[in-house]
Parts: sequence; C-alpha cells; structure tokens
Amino acid sequence: MTYNIDLSNIKDLMTPKGYDMLKVESRYLISYGGSGSSKSYSATQKILFRILTEKNHRILVLRKTARSLKKSVFQLFKEVIKIWNVEELFDYNLTDLTITCKNGNSIIMNGLDNVERLKSISSVSSLWLEEASEVTYQDFIQLDLRLRGYNASYFQLLLTFNPTSSNSWLKKRFFDNQDDKTKVVHSTFLDNPFLDLEYKDILESLISQNKNMYDIYCKGIWGTLKGVIFEDYQVVSDLPSIYDKKSYGVDFGFQHFMTFIEARTVGSDVYFKELYCKTESLVSDLIAFMKEEGIAEDAQIFADSARPDLITSIQNAGFKHCQKANKSVLGGLDYMLSLNIKVTSNSTNLIKELDLYSWSLDSNGEPLDKPVKMFDDCIDSCRYSIFRNEPIQISIANITSRRNNYNYDGYDDKELYQRVAVNNNFSGY
Ligand SMILES: Nc1ncnc2c1ncn2[C@@H]1O[C@H](COP(=O)(O)OP(=O)(O)OP(=O)(O)O)[C@@H](O)[C@H]1O
Ligand SMILES: [Mg+2]
Repeated sequence: MTYNIDLSNIKDLMTPKGYDMLKVESRYLISYGGSGSSKSYSATQKILFRILTEKNHRILVLRKTARSLKKSVFQLFKEVIKIWNVEELFDYNLTDLTITCKNGNSIIMNGLDNVERLKSISSVSSLWLEEASEVTYQDFIQLDLRLRGYNASYFQLLLTFNPTSSNSWLKKRFFDNQDDKTKVVHSTFLDNPFLDLEYKDILESLISQNKNMYDIYCKGIWGTLKGVIFEDYQVVSDLPSIYDKKSYGVDFGFQHFMTFIEARTVGSDVYFKELYCKTESLVSDLIAFMKEEGIAEDAQIFADSARPDLITSIQNAGFKHCQKANKSVLGGLDYMLSLNIKVTSNSTNLIKELDLYSWSLDSNGEPLDKPVKMFDDCIDSCRYSIFRNEPIQISIANITSRRNNYNYDGYDDKELYQRVAVNNNFSGY
C-alpha cells in the first residue's frame, strides 16, 4: 500500500535553525543553547523526517531516565506526528516506549537507568541523546561504540542540552577539542518564532535576577550555576510506608506546569514524590488524575492560594480538605531547608528543579534572600505541601532568656507576650 504524505510546507513548521539541521549529516550533531530555543522540538522533527523519508531506521532516543522520556519526548513525538498529519502511519506503545512507522522504521526510547533493555537493543541506525548534560562521559562512550557498522543512510548522534557547566565533559569533548566529524549548532529563544511571550519574558528577566542563569538559559553560553538553593538532597527509591504525616501540594499552571506532589514526613526527614507535572493541563484533568490515583477524599491538600476558584473546584470534586497554602516563599523555603529532603527517583521534573532552583544574585554575584522565578513549579508544590501556619510552642522563659542576650531594642517583654498571645498561630516567619 502506498501512502502519499505532503511535507511541502515543512519549512514553515520548523525554526530556521531546526530546518537547517535536517541537512546536517555529520556523525555528531551538537544542538546546544538557551532554554526554549526549540532544541527538543527540532530534534523530534528531524528524527521524524528521517523516519518518514529514509530506509532501514531504528532510531534510539535516550535520556537519563525512562520516566522522563515518557513525560517529555514521547509526548513530543505524538504532538509532531499529529501536526504533520501522519497519524495513520504510526503505532505507539507507551509501555515499551516505541513508535513504529508503517514503512518498517521505528523509534525506540530508553532511559539510561534501564541498562538491561539498553543492552538488548541492537542495530541502532542513529541516536538522539536528550538533555545530554544529565549523563556521564562513560555513558556517552558506550553509546558511541554501539553506533558502528549498521547500514542506514547516515549514522548520527544528536545531542541536545543547555550549557549548564563549563566543567562538563561535553565542553571538553566537543568544544575544547573540535573535529571535522562534528557540527555544532547554537540557538537561543530568539531563534524560536513559536515560543510564547510569557516564557520570553521569564528568560529576559533573568538578567536582573541571576547573571549566571541569564548566561546559560537566555544567552545559551557556557556557565556555572551559582546560588543553587537545594545543595543537599537525597534520591530514594520510594516514599516510606511508615510516616508521621502525609500531605499534598498543588501549584496551578497552564503554560507552566500544573504540579501535584505528595509529601510524607518522618521526624525531620521529608520525602517528596512528584505525582503530576503537565503543561496545558486544566484543573479538571488534575481532578481526574487524583481520582484515578485513588487520592483519599479527606487528604490534606494545600494549593496555590492565588487561585481560590480552582481550589473550590477541587473541593467540589470531593476533596473537601483542599485549602489555601501558606504563600510565604522565604518562610516555606527556610522550613524546607531545615529538613532532610528526600525525593523519589521517578520525580524527574522535581529533581531537575532541585538541581537548578537558585537564589537571585546581587551585583557582586552574592546570593540575595529571593529565589529566581524559574524552575519552581514542582518546588512550589513541595513548599505548599508541608509549610503552614501551625501553632508552635513558644515559652515565655525562652523569650526572656533569648532577649537577655540582645541589646534592648525598644520592646518590653510585656509587649512581646501580647504579640505571642495574639499570633498564637505564629510560625516563626
Ligand atoms: N517548530 C515548532 N513549531 C511549534 N512550536 C515549537 C516549534 N519549536 C519549538 N516550539 C515550541 O517552543 C517551545 C520551546 O521549545 P523546546 O522545548 O523544544 O525548547 P528547548 O530548546 O528544548 O528548551 P529547553 O532548553 O528548556 O529544553 C515549546 O513549547 C515548543 O512547543
Ligand atoms: Mg528541551
């Protein structure tokens, strides 16, 4: 059977740099730069183009974890296949993370965490390593070795990433030592005519918040993150089954991620698990997910207080204890930082945010008490889930002995007692 596909308007469907990359046949194609520059989208388009127009392809798409692929790249392929109007040519298998084309070509996705499956995948004709900065040089060498000897139109390792660390193996391998087998393409949000305005504003506003992040994510040049807030956290396999408290946090978003996180505390340890993290998601989608997941109707859910209407929708759906979260950013962050944070390994977006969420910097590059408004969607949910105005016990003896150590600042103790009595839900922030 013959299918006629019309890709005559492909140039209009791609960014100019993405379109140019269709013609690049070098063994290594390095697509790096700022955030929102269409690196992932253009890589998806290039692979799809090859699958539709070349023969004998089994293209492997890799990222650090399989779960992150499911959430990101698999969905991206589905989106582009739909936009290109070639849906009838493809079959999807979400369990195996494979997409098969009726012409015999296929795309296989695998996380580097799934070593056994990776070993079993043979005859790979090309490879896309998404977010290559997440993987080690050893992983890359292994992959490079696998891609020899199989006959397709041309072998290519396509690597996409943000230049987050000048110490990265990527810089040493492809920038400090250049060779004629490599084509490097640099892009920023300015190269992407499809990017929404809100995201452009976020990227441009980095200049006044954190110069290092501005360099990496807006200008797309090699940098080093400075002022990272969560320097210490631990990745664990799962949430503990025995715990002191369980609660949930919700951060609303549409262009941004809508996030839903579960938290369990055990003494001063807090465990987080990312349950839901999607863009262009409606509150009704989240509610459907909560029901499917079997979240208890009496669960303690703390949600973004800026959207009381959406909180009401969640309450009306049966989750009667959904309530406004405490919105104090600094208070919540201080509280989180006072705990031992543990994150389940499948919380891929949350882990990415924990690695990147940073303090604003002053003109000397010193951290200020104000986080940069980027990479915070999951972390906001974490904060909401555990930080609230719970009464804490403050004894008068504590206050008076503490005050003995300080110079008198105009308040007498009587006034302090009154303030404590009035703010009996004082949380210390
Ligand atoms: N050719 C295109 N057609 C339509 N939309 C596009 C196209 N290219 C990119 N976009 C949109 O632009 C946005 C950013 O693209 P993408 O996620 O590929 O950027 P990126 O460079 O991979 O960013 P990051 O560095 O954050 O991973 C996405 O929302 C995507 O949908
Ligand atoms: Mg990307």
